Amino acid sequence: MAETDILKILYNEKQLDDIVTKLATRINNDYKGKQLTLIGILKGAYIFLSDLSRKLTIPHTIEFMSVSSYSDTKSTGTVKLLTDLRCSVKDRHVIIVEDILDTGTSLSYLTELLNRKNPLTIQCCVLLRKPSMIKKPIDVKYLGFDLDPPEFVVGYGLDYNELFRNLPYIGVPTKEAIQKYANSV
Ligand code: IMP
Ligand code: MG
Repeated sequence: MAETDILKILYNEKQLDDIVTKLATRINNDYKGKQLTLIGILKGAYIFLSDLSRKLTIPHTIEFMSVSSYSDTKSTGTVKLLTDLRCSVKDRHVIIVEDILDTGTSLSYLTELLNRKNPLTIQCCVLLRKPSMIKKPIDVKYLGFDLDPPEFVVGYGLDYNELFRNLPYIGVPTKEAIQKYANSV
């Protein structure tokens, strides 16, 4: 994994830091005095969630769920629940924190599942959205960026075959990198 595996950087560290600060400021204002739980969707949201959480000045708890819907560089259209929530969200305000919204399959599945657990409210906080790919419309109250055209991106938690999550920026991998790491997991 090298710099040469990245064709172009779409969002650099400063842009990511700025947008996370803006989202955190809005959440700090909107949830003052409320019992807030952030639910991070693993694995992709781990870096976004940790940065967002550290910028929140209001009390909040953190939980994780894990789903998988992607194979290689494409959505499979079906969602597998890998890790369910291990605590109650009854009487709590929930924000689902997700790295990227592509077809919307994962988030609509998660929103339905969480709704059945009777939280007071549910909102979504999504770093990136590919607007032209959406098949299941989802209301995203806290959105980072719209990615149009909808390129396949890596970094800041997002992976290609489990690689590139550690990049401090979000970028597009080269075609050569896609081939080179096609069988890495
Ligand atoms: P959806 O269910 O089609 O909305 O897909 C959402 C999930 O697919 C995200 O949570 C990511 O894990 C993954 N995903 C979608 N687009 C990308 C991408 O460009 N790079 C890496 N992972 C992606
Ligand atoms: Mg994800």
